[in-house]
Amino acid sequence: MQRIATDRVIIVGAGLGALSAALRLAPHPVVLISPERLGEGASSAWAQGGVAAAMAAADTPEAHAADTIRAGAGTVDAGVAHRVTAAAPGHIASLSRLGTPFDRDASGGYVLSREAAHSFARVVRVKGDQAGAEIMRALVAEVRRAASVQVLEGAITTGLEVAGGTVTGVVVESADPAGSEPVFIAAPAILLAGGGSAGLYALTTNPPRIRGQVIGLAARAGAVIADAEFVQFHPTAIDAGEDPAPLATEALRGEGAILVNRHGCRFMAGIHPDAELAPRDIVARAIHAEWRQGNRPMLDTRAALGASVLTRFPAVAAACARAGIDPVTEPIPVAAAAHYHMGGIATDAAGRASLGNLWVCGEAASTGLHGANRLASNGLLEALVYAETCAEGIAATLPAPRSAAPVMPEFRPGGVPVDPEAVARLRQVMTADVGLIRDEKGLRSALATIAALEARHGDSATFRNMTATATLIAAAALMREESRGAHFRSDFPRAADTARRSRLTLAEAMARRALPEKEPT
Ligand code: SIN
Repeated sequence: MQRIATDRVIIVGAGLGALSAALRLAPHPVVLISPERLGEGASSAWAQGGVAAAMAAADTPEAHAADTIRAGAGTVDAGVAHRVTAAAPGHIASLSRLGTPFDRDASGGYVLSREAAHSFARVVRVKGDQAGAEIMRALVAEVRRAASVQVLEGAITTGLEVAGGTVTGVVVESADPAGSEPVFIAAPAILLAGGGSAGLYALTTNPPRIRGQVIGLAARAGAVIADAEFVQFHPTAIDAGEDPAPLATEALRGEGAILVNRHGCRFMAGIHPDAELAPRDIVARAIHAEWRQGNRPMLDTRAALGASVLTRFPAVAAACARAGIDPVTEPIPVAAAAHYHMGGIATDAAGRASLGNLWVCGEAASTGLHGANRLASNGLLEALVYAETCAEGIAATLPAPRSAAPVMPEFRPGGVPVDPEAVARLRQVMTADVGLIRDEKGLRSALATIAALEARHGDSATFRNMTATATLIAAAALMREESRGAHFRSDFPRAADTARRSRLTLAEAMARRALPEKEPT
């Protein structure tokens, strides 16, 4: 393997956490490892809702923290929730200064959306459903201007090297489907900010590249993973055959859109007092139940928004147009799709993982903010807050800033490409047996299939990173014999008396799976 070294901090990923951390680290030189062109391929750019922050005069960070803790079903770290929600307004001000065009009212105040399980309208938004795209546009422009940031596009991180419990660098390959020979890059500090795992599911709202690889590579290096079983399913992905499934933002329900089935029955009203704005896990399971019964759940925006849906929610309107749906005259078919991984690489209050020299922020991290059920629009917020925390922690370990040569790995042919059919099979298994409704039989069968797929296709490091994360999710779901938040076990439908977070190494998760002689069908 080619081996090179750099004085730059390595940042794995190119979403909101990665870009924010790169800017916060300036003038320390960094290299961002981005599989796609900067700004493309990250979940952050697809976020429709916005950033949750107590910006209204009558709202407070304490109320925001209380909602976060309540939604998380007993497993939120209260200290983290208070710290993150207190920092939220300052981050909105920073993004505004960077040029994010947040929606404003006539008196210059922020226009705030209402989303599920929030006691206030507190989601700061851009052009209705364009928050992620516009925030990323502002940050990408700033990163392109920053002399301290090198962007290495077209490279994918496949592994970490560890010596004596400390990470010494990363292994990268060409992001081309054919792959390349791996290249090791030694670096003074590593920040993982490479997204979550929901693309491991066949029905997902996540971009195609986001399939648990970053959590998997950290787990393979020995990092502890927390709350892996808690995967959030978004209730209203547009069910029109697209992969990934486009999102119909929860803000539509905040504006009064209702959920109906093909019989015209508004089913949420009988399930929860908050009806369509009940916590996300409850709405997702209700949608799933209607869907499984062939009742075709739909989101009806007609009475609440009329023709204004086309201009106020342009991303939703565009997705409907692609699918031949006219939301002005007909309801939008929806399904619950894997959307966000609450679990991830366990981090402490400083964003540090259990391995030395390794920091994590964004969806790849499990900080304790989200518990078993993330409060809507807390994802971008967490990425912003922990990007800053990690940048401060990393900077404290570095010598005074000095210039560094660009990192120039040479990608030689000779990689092991990922087999798309193996990925498709893995995603089917995750949706079928590790999805919204789980039980012991399905989880054991999923673990056996994951093991069989890995045995057959595991020469690809990228695929092994995916199977590592899939194993962690399924094993943690098997071990959690209760139902809590987004994790629902039909064989253990009640919550245990005591709520606890889970912590698991890959070795412990692997012990839960056995390789069968033949892959179960
Ligand atoms: C949405 O807009 O419904 C998604 C927001 C989120 O997942 O936080």
